[in-house]
Amino acid sequence: MTNDELAKLFRPGSVHKRLYTDKDIFDLEMNRIYGQAWIYVGHQSQVPRPGDYHATRIGDQDVVMVRGSDGQVSVLYNRCPHKGAKLVTEGDGCAGKFFRCPYHAWTFKLDGTHMSLPLRAGLEGTCYSADNPDFSMKRLARVDQYRGFVFASQSASGPDLREFLGGSASTIDNLCDRSPVGEVEVAGGVFRVMQQSNWKVFYENLHDTMHAPATHESSVVAAREQSKAIGDMPFELLIQEGNGEPWSFWEALELRAYPYGHGYMEGIFDPNAAEKDAVTKAHQASLIAAHGAERAREIMGMNRHNTIIYGSGSPHNVFQQFRVIRPIAVDRTLIEIQVFRCKEAPQAVFDRALVYANLINSPSSNVMPDDVELYRRCQEGNSTRGGDWVSQHRYLGTDKSMPDGGAVSINGTSELPMRNQMAAWRHYMLGDDVSPEQEAAWTGRTPLSTAGAQA
Ligand code: FES
Ligand SMILES: [Fe+2]
Repeated sequence: MTNDELAKLFRPGSVHKRLYTDKDIFDLEMNRIYGQAWIYVGHQSQVPRPGDYHATRIGDQDVVMVRGSDGQVSVLYNRCPHKGAKLVTEGDGCAGKFFRCPYHAWTFKLDGTHMSLPLRAGLEGTCYSADNPDFSMKRLARVDQYRGFVFASQSASGPDLREFLGGSASTIDNLCDRSPVGEVEVAGGVFRVMQQSNWKVFYENLHDTMHAPATHESSVVAAREQSKAIGDMPFELLIQEGNGEPWSFWEALELRAYPYGHGYMEGIFDPNAAEKDAVTKAHQASLIAAHGAERAREIMGMNRHNTIIYGSGSPHNVFQQFRVIRPIAVDRTLIEIQVFRCKEAPQAVFDRALVYANLINSPSSNVMPDDVELYRRCQEGNSTRGGDWVSQHRYLGTDKSMPDGGAVSINGTSELPMRNQMAAWRHYMLGDDVSPEQEAAWTGRTPLSTAGAQA
């Protein structure tokens, strides 16, 4: 598919449905987006000791994050350079002192360099040598971490990680700062959900405030009825009932967009809950003990709902989780929900994070299946001949550019976040073939993103 053909898939405020259904476009995305961007691989707490690994995917590539004998974390392609076998299966494990391929027992140091192989006889006179990089596992071009969150890029060029994260980094900061010692760890395993839809649909839904009262009507009604029956609105019901706020509530929320498709939305739960809620009070007390009242108030006062790190997923600072979004196929997306413990915060804080993940995002949630069903319907509806365009028009042309390089909505029901993601998508996919004028015409505002100039 040529860049001219790709450019024709955009109209002001709408995109062609082929972005969600075309396998060739998905394959291009794996090269031009997942082959370029910084992608979250995992948290360093998932590999606490030398030899520990976390095998996962960056786009269509199998990779393994591993802690070396020197304590450094590397990210390697999960491929043996002999016949190509994957060294380890997906998930977490410990390689011990080195990787040993299960096929013919070639061995590799934890940073991927070749160690040895059985029976060297027969390789004399060939190019085989332990120093020849063709006989080592290949590392990803760039690996970096931000406060323990490990990202990798398959491209040697492009912005550094901090520049790439931009305004979304403040969510990771706040997630960590909610620990009195400023550190979090993945705890309690991960939930995994396979969605029968294109990966971009999930990102677009994360700040789609207009869907909440409609899509989640059944769980809102159930929460309200239960609350009435027991004469109380405990946390478990409150977080389900939150989707049922009136339109005026959603309209008043603030949505932020940043370059590279990132952004966040203002929190939807009461920021003054510390006065009423024992868990928040205990959490705040632990932060006051560590940092004093003013800093504790500042940390607890960052009231955000979903944050988007486009290509990686959605961290949530208030309820300490990261929904990692892994594209599998044009119509398949794997979501991994990691829950974090704030080190040295009260146990109840972690328990509440688990309750939130269980009730809102896990496979047993009675909220998330509403979304997953609608994502599947979008995938199936967009595969019919019933029309070609997907609308992202709401509040088009009204988004305000901010001095921090981002943009802000004038109304919380704006489809600014979707347009921002699509602006980044165009940059990744078309590189310099998108002029600032074309982008301004399409998004209705000054260009935010210089992302993704193709290597
Ligand atoms: S494929 Fe790994 S040693 Fe042969
Ligand atoms: Fe939803």
